[in-house]
Amino acid sequence: MLHFKFDPFPNLETSRLLLRRINESDMDDLFLMRSNPEIMRYIPRPIAQKKEDVMELISRVNDGILKNESINWAIALKETNQLIGTIGYVRSKPEDHRAEVGYMLNSAFHCKGFTFEALEKVIEYGFENMNLHSIEAIIDPRNIASEKLLLKCNFNKEAHLKENVFWNNEYSDSVIYSLLNNR
Ligand SMILES: CC(C)(COP(=O)(O)OP(=O)(O)OC[C@H]1O[C@@H](n2cnc3c(N)ncnc32)[C@H](O)[C@@H]1OP(=O)(O)O)[C@@H](O)C(=O)NCCC(=O)NCCS
Repeated sequence: MLHFKFDPFPNLETSRLLLRRINESDMDDLFLMRSNPEIMRYIPRPIAQKKEDVMELISRVNDGILKNESINWAIALKETNQLIGTIGYVRSKPEDHRAEVGYMLNSAFHCKGFTFEALEKVIEYGFENMNLHSIEAIIDPRNIASEKLLLKCNFNKEAHLKENVFWNNEYSDSVIYSLLNNR
């Protein structure tokens, strides 16, 4: 059984980005993403209707960090410290040395390699600091951007579940990708 430890909070850095703790000053930028139906299209979570929904999200994220169960980082631009996305290990299975990664980016910043840059760093942290044996990502097969990103990070497609999710009044498929720690 792994025991994660997110205290002190692990700030990470890439060439263009800071991966830092999400805080209340990120509320407007977070709301922009979580209230955008296009961004939320393949994420089976309610679309934020009001700022309080985002407040709740921030406190859930902090709760996971305090309990050492899950971790989410703000993807922030180094130059301005503005939150442009989020990334993290949203569901972990410490008994299997495995965790599920999740991410989203504000659409104004898509297709510039930002999530790839963040994901590479988060993978490195997962294997080297959390001692994970494998990282899982579960996507809707229609989410081409997410699939491309995972393949670019060398994830392998391992399973395609048919109509196993009922969300927004439709049954949708899930594809499970995973990356083993071969380092
Ligand atoms: C998935 C998501 C995070 C990708 O972020 P991004 O920063 O734009 O991705 P990157 O710029 O790092 O691109 C990574 C690869 O995916 C490709 N890609 C990104 N968006 C794409 C799109 N809309 N269509 C096709 N390919 C796309 C890029 O071309 C790149 O591959 P390449 O270098 O071979 O060209 C972003 O589209 C997003 O926020 N989507 C909504 C939220 C979401 O669905 N999250 C995932 C839930 S599982």
